[in-house]
Amino acid sequence: MTLGRGSSYGDLIDLLATELRSFPQAKWIVEKVSGLDSASIGPLSKELVADDVIDKAMKLVGRVKAGEPIQYVLESWDFRYLRLSINRSVLIPRPETEVVAGYVIDEIRQRFESREDATFKDYGIDKQLFRVADLGTGSGAIALSVAKEIESRFDIEVIGTDLSQEALEVAKTNLEALDLSVQNGVKFIQGSWFDPLDDYLLAFDIVVSNPPYISPGQYEELDSCVKDFEPKMALVAADEGLSDLIHIASNAMRYLKNNGMLVLECDPDQIDPLVKFLKQANYYEVESHLDLALRPRFVSGRIKANSLVAENLDLREI
Ligand SMILES: C[S@@+](CC[C@H](N)C(=O)[O-])C[C@H]1O[C@@H](n2cnc3c(N)ncnc32)[C@H](O)[C@@H]1O
Repeated sequence: MTLGRGSSYGDLIDLLATELRSFPQAKWIVEKVSGLDSASIGPLSKELVADDVIDKAMKLVGRVKAGEPIQYVLESWDFRYLRLSINRSVLIPRPETEVVAGYVIDEIRQRFESREDATFKDYGIDKQLFRVADLGTGSGAIALSVAKEIESRFDIEVIGTDLSQEALEVAKTNLEALDLSVQNGVKFIQGSWFDPLDDYLLAFDIVVSNPPYISPGQYEELDSCVKDFEPKMALVAADEGLSDLIHIASNAMRYLKNNGMLVLECDPDQIDPLVKFLKQANYYEVESHLDLALRPRFVSGRIKANSLVAENLDLREI
């Protein structure tokens, strides 16, 4: 099939679907280049489509066929209830991380929503702000989902950090797309893991992170659509991929409140060493959790304030 004068939106979508072997991708591309949303495209399927829309769509199809992930081509991707802007400075948000964010959100709700109309302050036990840190926030996927899904009547502050200034620019763009009431509860700070959080010793109720956890060896085996497009610094960590996970787990206890919770996404193969490390480092209620494909995918644990810092634990002994 070729397109020319008199082609309709329906013709364009059919052609792109054939080229890409994917009807959803064809629709997403037409939505992007036409500025129409998915609900409007269907009724317009017999309407004539402008030449410049066809040209733009064909260029994007060329990029997908050359191997670029559809998410970067569309410059946006859905994560839980958010449509996030993304570019090649940030990892494409993954479905498994949606489960991690959901766990954090459920944890906050369970603690504070057992009573209708409850506010944190009603409990009288903790008059401080409820604070969540999302380390290596990237597009802001976890931080912004927490801020958006936890109702604004709760006094909550979410702080996202990232070493990459470019990633934080993306996170800030995504923050600006949200309601002001949500925006007010979120801060993004540049720096390595806890380095920019000197003012937040013993200040967080939850520290969550989806850090880089792929070993340099595994990285070489990844598909080129990952290696050639996604930022390496978002993916690779030393020591069999464990170095950033261990660094965060070792330092979180200085920043978590008494009984605060650490939540870390990792590779299924890293669950055992990570659980062992958390237990040795005095975390309690250490648990592993499954992702949507029922693979063990993240760990959580709590810490008592003033627990011994795990600096002296040797990773090689795990
Ligand atoms: C796997 S990505 C996760 C991004 C996002 N949280 C998500 O789940 O989609 C890891 C993130 O950690 C950031 N990162 C890498 N090294 C870091 C460091 N030393 N300190 C802080 N962030 C770092 C990367 O820039 C990247 O955004």
